[in-house]
Amino acid sequence: MRSLEIEVFPCRSDNFGVLVHCPESNLTASIDAPEFDAVVAAAERRGWTVTHILTTHHHTDHVEANLALKERYDCEIIGPVNEALAIPGLDRAVGDDDEFEFGPHVVKVIETPGHTAGHICYHFPDSKILFAADTLFALGCGRLFERPAADMWHSLQKLSVLPDETAIYFGHEYTLSNARFAITIDPDNTRLQARVAEIEALRAEGRFTIPTTLGLEKETNPFLRAADPAIRRNLLMETRTDEEVFAEIRKRKDNF
Ligand SMILES: [Fe+2]
Repeated sequence: MRSLEIEVFPCRSDNFGVLVHCPESNLTASIDAPEFDAVVAAAERRGWTVTHILTTHHHTDHVEANLALKERYDCEIIGPVNEALAIPGLDRAVGDDDEFEFGPHVVKVIETPGHTAGHICYHFPDSKILFAADTLFALGCGRLFERPAADMWHSLQKLSVLPDETAIYFGHEYTLSNARFAITIDPDNTRLQARVAEIEALRAEGRFTIPTTLGLEKETNPFLRAADPAIRRNLLMETRTDEEVFAEIRKRKDNF
């Protein structure tokens, strides 16, 4: 099986557009549909025709171009069953543990409530790729708009059991701000210190930080590290639950 080709491009103010192309089946999926012109331009640059939109959640900056892209390409829109009514043009609703085929590839759906109530991530296990949208960012996680911290913590735990080498594509370039926050939570983490320097250099050159890997996030992302003894000590929360530590980190980031 030939590997998937991926085109990442910036759109709107800080969103990533992502196209996933299967050369064997000639299928192309847009992960969400943030901006019509940017998605079409990226597809034309690569000579691809959009056949699917894989919607992660209902926020406008992820679904705004659904109907316009459907009109242009007659593509199938797949999206989260738990917010199906809020997804424009939805053709197929999917939920936790559902699987579907994308050419020769299997796609697994992982429900990750927290940022929104029905947010889903798309996992391509044979390629070890996860499209995490606004659940897990490089050094961050999505804001909790619709579900409490404990739900998001459990959602992140579901992602963290995937193989460490899993490439993670996320929805926004928030990484520099996330890095500056992360180091306040986990200041003695030498891997994080090095990563903050790498990110500052990349962003100073205008380069993007996508994708990341799960292994790197588990070493450096404070939102995956609520069980870490040094972080708990730093927050004076050594006797609290992981959910409580995670909630505190999320609250501090909201006010950072
Ligand atoms: Fe969002």
